[in-house]
Amino acid sequence: MTMDFASRVQRVEPSATLAISNLAAELEADGVDVVDLSVGEPDFDTPQNVKDAGEDALEAGHTGYTSSNGIPELKEAIAAKLDDDGLDHDPENVIVTPGGKQALFEIFMSLIDDGDEVCLLDPAWVSYEAMVKMAGGTLSRVDLSPHDFQLEPALSDLEAAVSDDTELLVVNSPSNPTGAVYSDAALEGVRDLAVEHNITVISDEIYKEITYGVEPTSLGTLDGMADRTITVNGFSKAYAMTGWRLGYFAGPEELIDQAGKLHSHSVSCAVNFVQHAGVEALENTDEAVVEMRDAFEERRDMLADLFADHGVDVPVGDGAFYMMLPVDDDDQAWCEGAIEDAHVATVPGSAFGTPGYARLSYAASKERLREGVERLAEHGYI
Ligand SMILES: Cc1ncc(COP(=O)(O)O)c(C=O)c1O
Repeated sequence: MTMDFASRVQRVEPSATLAISNLAAELEADGVDVVDLSVGEPDFDTPQNVKDAGEDALEAGHTGYTSSNGIPELKEAIAAKLDDDGLDHDPENVIVTPGGKQALFEIFMSLIDDGDEVCLLDPAWVSYEAMVKMAGGTLSRVDLSPHDFQLEPALSDLEAAVSDDTELLVVNSPSNPTGAVYSDAALEGVRDLAVEHNITVISDEIYKEITYGVEPTSLGTLDGMADRTITVNGFSKAYAMTGWRLGYFAGPEELIDQAGKLHSHSVSCAVNFVQHAGVEALENTDEAVVEMRDAFEERRDMLADLFADHGVDVPVGDGAFYMMLPVDDDDQAWCEGAIEDAHVATVPGSAFGTPGYARLSYAASKERLREGVERLAEHGYI
C-alpha cells in the first residue's frame, strides 16, 4: 500500500541541522573522532538546583496533566521575567509549551492561512521556513549577509520586502545562526514598518540571556508594538535544558484564545514536573547563567582570533553561540567535504537561506574548537 501524504508535509524538508548531526553520529559510530560544531545546544549540564526541583516535583507527585496553558506558578514567574524585560503581560496571556519550537508552531498555525505572506530576515533559523510552509504561507526574505548580518543597514531592503499583504514578520535577536543582536534603531525601523502595514511580529528571544556586553531590547517594549508583538522564549538555551522541552509565548489575549485551542488539542500541556523545574530555572539560576555566558564569550573571542590567524574574517555577533564562516559558494559541498575529510561538522548556510557560509556553534570546549580550526586549516578548508 502507498500512503497519500498531505501536501503540507511534502512541502518541507527534514531539518538540515539534524541531518548533519546524524552524519556526524554515523561517522562517530564508525570510530571516527568528529569535532561537532553543528549542534545548537549548550554543552553544559542543566544547573543542579533545576534538576533537584524537577526531581522534587516528581517525588511530590506532579505527574498528571496540568491546566493546558501551564501551571499558575510558572505563568506567574514568566510574567515576572517578561516584566523585567519591560514587557507587560498578564500570566493569563502566556502559554507554556513543550519547547520554544512548539510555541512557534502554534503561532504560525494560528495566524497563517494558505497564501499569507511571512517575512524572514536571512539567514534565518531553519524551522521558520518549514513551519510557514506547513501552515500554507508564502515567504518574502531580506538578505542581511551584505551587511555583516546587521538589520539596521538593511532597513530599506526590509521596507521593500513588506507590504499591506504581509501578515507576519519574524525577528530573532540574538540571532541563530549569526549571533547578531539588532540595534534599537533597527528595531524602531521594524516597528515603523509593522505599524504602517499592520503587521504582526514574532520576537523570538530564545537567546536573550546569552549576550556579550549588550542588553538586547525586547521588541514588544517599543511604542506601538505591545498589541502586535508575540514574544517567544524558552529554557533550552539560557538554562541548558534542551531535553526538558520547555518554552512559552506571550501575546495579546485574542491570540492566546485561538492558539490555546491548538495547544490543548495537540499537546494538552507541557510536562508537569518540568514546569516546576522551570520555575526554579527562572527564579534561581542567575549565577549559572552568568558562568555559561562568560564561557561562551571567551570561546567566541578565541574562535574569531583563530580564524583571523588563518586570514579569515568572520563577522562576530554579540549574542547566542554561533558564527557564520564565509566558505565556498557551494556551501553544501563545503560542509560535506569538511565533515568527510577534516571530520568537522558544520551546517550549510543555505539551510538558513544564505548560501556561501557555514554555521559554526561554539557551544564546545576550547580544545575542541582549536582542534576544529586546525583540522579545517590542515585540509585546506580555510
Ligand atoms: C532561534 C530559535 N528559536 C527557537 C528554538 C527552539 O528551541 P526549543 O524548542 O529547544 O525551545 C531554537 C532552537 O534551536 C532556535 O535556535
